[in-house]
Amino acid sequence: MFSFHEVSKEFKTDFWEKPFRALDKVSFNLSGGNIVGFLGANGAGKTTGIKILLGFIKPTSGKIEYDPALGKNRSEIFKNIGYLPERPYFYADLTGREFINYIGQLNDLTKLDIKKNGDFWAKSLKIDFALDRKLRFYSKGMLQRLGFVSALVADPMLLILDEPLSGLDPLGRKEFKDIMNQLSSEGKTIFFSSHILSDVEEVSREVVILESGKLVHSGNLLDLVKGKTTDEYELVLDSRESEKIKELGSLQEQGEFCRLVFPQSDFSRVLEQVSKENINIESLKKVTPTLEDIIYRIGV
Ligand SMILES: Nc1ncnc2c1ncn2[C@@H]1O[C@H](COP(=O)(O)OP(=O)(O)OP(=O)(O)O)[C@@H](O)[C@H]1O
Ligand SMILES: [Mg+2]
Repeated sequence: MFSFHEVSKEFKTDFWEKPFRALDKVSFNLSGGNIVGFLGANGAGKTTGIKILLGFIKPTSGKIEYDPALGKNRSEIFKNIGYLPERPYFYADLTGREFINYIGQLNDLTKLDIKKNGDFWAKSLKIDFALDRKLRFYSKGMLQRLGFVSALVADPMLLILDEPLSGLDPLGRKEFKDIMNQLSSEGKTIFFSSHILSDVEEVSREVVILESGKLVHSGNLLDLVKGKTTDEYELVLDSRESEKIKELGSLQEQGEFCRLVFPQSDFSRVLEQVSKENINIESLKKVTPTLEDIIYRIGV
């Protein structure tokens, strides 16, 4: 769908200060038909990357190449990309319907197509009941839903969603994820940013990860986890034994069992204690890291 080639972006903050490098030679390729998570902590450079991708700001160096399937020129390409901004700006005096009409007209859609697509997505995103209300009366989650409708109204091939799940309640997050899956099964490509790893793990097989403006990984999510272990062990015991081992590591009670996590360096000490106290072991294994552990603790 598109590729970043050594894209860098520097922002001048103060005349005297050195420019701030928000993106540093970021290169990756995003193939079509997938849901790809764009991960990174606050300030990692995700929104900057997205703004460059959408042509809102220019990179300081490097370039982005778009798949010819998206269009022949910039105007065709950008019409084929639906965008949900991180902080959507809405005209407070428009109604939801007027806003969808406005976005549809910007995309050169016919009135009939705007009505057909707008109604369809407003119903799917459960905002149809509020389309005749002014946007000033919409809640945060309602604006987010309307923003998603407007990103979809022109039936784009590629969807760029900047933090689509933030500001939604758990049910709303599930509904958005379901629609993302549905769109992907219809062949659309979705590139969405988030700093919530568990949300990304749920819907995408592929990720692009930034850390302080630098690319740390792009590709399959499983490749990232495969072969990675932590240097910690977990020992599961009957919870009645917890008093005897509670000093040996971090202990969590889980119903009739308790789970002791301790570093590899304490392995012999813990086992000696367990055998001295004659404790039955339910299980003992290396802690498998979560994606969160891998990115923020172990490193990729
Ligand atoms: N116009 C600008 N002028 C100066 N600095 C900027 C500008 N836009 C972004 N930055 C800086 O670039 C860095 C990356 O910002 P960006 O908004 O891309 O991060 P992000 O990954 O989207 O973070 P978040 O998860 O909080 O949305 C930040 O340090 C930010 O302050
Ligand atoms: Mg952002």
